[in-house]
Amino acid sequence: MSNDNAQQVEYWNEQAGPNWVAGKASIDALIEPLGRAAIERAAPSPGESVLDVGCGTGQATLELARRVGASGRVLGLDISGPMLERARQDARAAGLSQLRFEQSDAQTHAFGESFDLVYSRFGVMFFADPTAAFRNLASALAPGGRVVFVCWQGVGQNAWVHVPIAAMAKHVEMPPPADPTAPGPFAFADGERLRGILQDAGLADVTLEPHEQPLVLGGDGSLDAAVEQLIRVGPAARLLADATDETRETVACAKRSSPTRDPTESAWVRPAGSSGRPAPAEHPPSRKDKGESARARAGAVANTRARGMMAACEQSRSVS
Ligand SMILES: C[S@@+](CC[C@H](N)C(=O)[O-])C[C@H]1O[C@@H](n2cnc3c(N)ncnc32)[C@H](O)[C@@H]1O
Repeated sequence: MSNDNAQQVEYWNEQAGPNWVAGKASIDALIEPLGRAAIERAAPSPGESVLDVGCGTGQATLELARRVGASGRVLGLDISGPMLERARQDARAAGLSQLRFEQSDAQTHAFGESFDLVYSRFGVMFFADPTAAFRNLASALAPGGRVVFVCWQGVGQNAWVHVPIAAMAKHVEMPPPADPTAPGPFAFADGERLRGILQDAGLADVTLEPHEQPLVLGGDGSLDAAVEQLIRVGPAARLLADATDETRETVACAKRSSPTRDPTESAWVRPAGSSGRPAPAEHPPSRKDKGESARARAGAVANTRARGMMAACEQSRSVS
């Protein structure tokens, strides 16, 4: 496998980036609590310098800039042009002059400055060579600096991923099982592997804490909004990259009526007032389903739990 991130650069500029910009409000609402928990864990203080790795459209980066204040400094680094453009707009509107963004690969970026904190909200799982990337990030730490990030636990722990993918399986050709450690959202699902990567990169005092958070998909909690979001971003969206509109609509319908029960959840998708039994399958959707009945379902609740992993480590005293 190639050790450079060319594939990810293409993916985050051509496919995922524009989708994340278009769906920013609901994506931010979805993952903000996990990013905030990592910010609390990192405890940035006024005057500190912070690097946000894979900052994307910048919601957490702006919050970090507010925390360090005008006497601090924050750099948001990302490979995605469209996502950074959106982040820059928000930073300008917020008047945060201590914040700047650069488009560059964190695995190889030549840092001409050092940071008290290297932070990330789901932006560090996409490196072709994670050890080299974290070594590069560790080299940018100021003496005594710390690294704190949140990544995902496994697909099996995250019903919001595996339930909709199971619903899609009947309608979309599934790729052969991939290397679970390949760059992607779940590359760090194996905590012991992650610990080894961080230690090999020269980081010390590695702490990994499972972090669970209630998750409301789609922003407004409606079933249709949840389905729309699952089709737009994340692993299910990747599988639909080349799908026709017809297939997308069929998949959306299958997800709306997918089984509600999941062994790791008390309930995943539970139409309001129902007993939790799956709705009857309706593929392809009728006009009625697209209109009236979809609106009738707007009271449905799509909620689950997100299972992330909080990682914290420090600059190793032997390399400082
Ligand atoms: C799941 S998104 C998270 C974005 C943002 N942190 C947030 O929480 O909204 C992952 C981000 O990592 C970025 N990314 C992936 N590989 C990268 C790399 N090698 N260097 C810098 N950024 C990278 C992507 O462009 C994308 O913005």
